[in-house]
Amino acid sequence: MKTMEEIVNYCKENGFLFPGSQIYGGLANAWDYGPLGIELKKNIQEAWWKKFVQEHEENYGLDAAILMNPNVWVASGHVGGFSDPLMDCKDCKTRHRADHLIEEQAKVNPAGWSFEKMEKFIKDNGIKCPNCGSTNFSEIKEFQLMFKTQQGVVSGEGSEIYLRPETAQGIFVNFKNVVRSMRAKLPMGIAQVGKAFRNEITPGNFIFRTREFEQMELEFFCNPCEANKWYEYWKETCMNWLLFYGINKDYVVFRDHEPTELSHYSSGTADIEFKFPFGQSELWGIANRTDYDLNAHMKVSKEDLTYHDPITNEKYVPYVIEPSLGLNRMLLAFICNALVNIEDRGDVLMIHPDLAPIKICILPLQKQQIDFAHDVYKKIANKFVCSFETSGNIGKRYKRQDLIGTPYCVTIDFDSLEDNMVTIRDRNTTEQIRISIDELENYFEDKFNF
Ligand code: GAP
Repeated sequence: MKTMEEIVNYCKENGFLFPGSQIYGGLANAWDYGPLGIELKKNIQEAWWKKFVQEHEENYGLDAAILMNPNVWVASGHVGGFSDPLMDCKDCKTRHRADHLIEEQAKVNPAGWSFEKMEKFIKDNGIKCPNCGSTNFSEIKEFQLMFKTQQGVVSGEGSEIYLRPETAQGIFVNFKNVVRSMRAKLPMGIAQVGKAFRNEITPGNFIFRTREFEQMELEFFCNPCEANKWYEYWKETCMNWLLFYGINKDYVVFRDHEPTELSHYSSGTADIEFKFPFGQSELWGIANRTDYDLNAHMKVSKEDLTYHDPITNEKYVPYVIEPSLGLNRMLLAFICNALVNIEDRGDVLMIHPDLAPIKICILPLQKQQIDFAHDVYKKIANKFVCSFETSGNIGKRYKRQDLIGTPYCVTIDFDSLEDNMVTIRDRNTTEQIRISIDELENYFEDKFNF
């Protein structure tokens, strides 16, 4: 696998990602998606939607607002719970989570301790800064991970609201709407893709951890007695989806959360971790959220969110199994996984054809073929994302398409104007075949799933 530095340079040089607000010196850990990055991101999203919504008759899509009633976050436990006890090392100026240092260095779980108790423990037990070894810490401060903003145009007036830190809550508050309007029966899933925002303390590793990111989440509502079965089912489905889209099976592993690291809502979580160049880290979290969220919203909103099974007449608060994936993190994993060096060819992005940013590149060999080549482009561009490449010799042009992962090149060769046929070059095999222009669309329709 390439190093992280090579991956970042690759993405910047080839139009996948650019530093955010670059002409103003950038904004720390903000990244903009370039022409190829947005195509890749859209394709990953579509591949996910196809598997987790379209192919499951019991699943539905949703697009909830980012801005929600602040009580949503009180009920969900994010106000109050979604904050970290932080302290600074006064010598090397690095910031640390006090509870993590206690746990790592003293093997004691400080869950539920007051800040005073943690500070005393740190002093009495010689807890050290992991960066410089100093014990000279500031006092512990609470760090709120949710972004706050103001609703209302007059500064200082109006109400304080939050940017959502997860898309899941938009789904929970619409559970009843979806069941009623779609006449849905359980088990049933609601999926959505959207932005989430977190004031992360340690953003970094390129797009791995940023403050603004996108999640693809499914909340699968089921009878509590079937929750374990569905938990296993969705774990397997997630892993199979990754393998189907070409993730190397040696790069991904399941890791069960220890009881001390479980989120406040979870009775069990398994992460699929990916072996990124900087180390093995969480890619996809699959959690059994139990009935925590629906119960919490019932309590605060006073709305009845119990489900009445029309067949068994049973009434219950559903359990929820949640596979939650970061779209940006997934994109990074796909690039790390697919960018390989092949002898005599150089770097090739061996990405699944469905995910490739550009599906087909049209290459006229001679200037006088350009109009003909434009006609070929128009013929297929309404079905497939195409590009047009005229500069450089053909070898260089193939190399450039290999580098960005284009699965097929259509070359307008020396005989094309005579016989109305073109050469198709396959990225994976480099094999070339000639086919009639009239067969192009059918030929490519077989090559892509969407
Ligand atoms: N609704 C559950 C939830 O939000 P999470 O483990 O905090 O759980 C789920 O996040 C997924 O979202 C992670 O597995 C990761 O892929 C992605 N994610 C979380 N924080 C992120 C961040 N700061 N930057 C990029 N992706 C992030």
